[in-house]
Amino acid sequence: MPACLLAPSILSFDLTDLRGAVATMAAAGSKVIHLDVMDGQFVPPITFGDSFVKALRSAAPGLLEAHLMVETPESQFDAFIAAGCERIIFHHEATIHSYRLAQSLKDRGIEAGIAINPGTSVRCIEPVLSIVDLVLVMTVNPGWGGQKFIRPCLDKVAQIRANYPDIHIEVDGGIDTTTLPEARAAGANLFVVGSHLAKSPDLATAVKELNALCD
Ligand code: DX5
Ligand code: ZN
Repeated sequence: MPACLLAPSILSFDLTDLRGAVATMAAAGSKVIHLDVMDGQFVPPITFGDSFVKALRSAAPGLLEAHLMVETPESQFDAFIAAGCERIIFHHEATIHSYRLAQSLKDRGIEAGIAINPGTSVRCIEPVLSIVDLVLVMTVNPGWGGQKFIRPCLDKVAQIRANYPDIHIEVDGGIDTTTLPEARAAGANLFVVGSHLAKSPDLATAVKELNALCD
């Protein structure tokens, strides 16, 4: 199994004042920033686009991953790569051409991830698992931070891990000090954490505490 890492999501932070939070998380040992891009179509909210990510790039020393909760995700690939993202995750449910989209990300020389909603089964993405670097198993319905962890989604994590020992499996939604170890035990190695960090009174301590659960 690949190394376990936190992937803090900035979604629930003050988006007008992120530089300090991003620097604090990096100093506390966080190597990834998870960027939740929503278009008001695939999911109801609209968050931010590539220009926002480009502005954040200089403040974020680690790997930037874009979680595209958008329709026609392929129309955003080049913009988010140009903005500095090294990994792009698109939703299986947003395209009828997931294999081609994954190939096109690999052809661009960046990491490709495919995400599945809680209502989507693993068999839907089985044919692309051999070419993607990462599967993101949503453990809440996409669109909002602060939702309750949907525990049965971990069965999908275990199902993927049983057949793909080297793939990155990321869980996203409702991750905290209780659910991270559960997800890890099921086989996940990347953990998106949003509201748990945003509401913590001491961000550096909260990152270190979660990092310790990844060691
Ligand atoms: C939800 C997003 C998540 C969100 C997670 O659609 O994909 O990345 O930030 O937030 P929490 O950790 O609060 O569930
Ligand atoms: Zn996300």
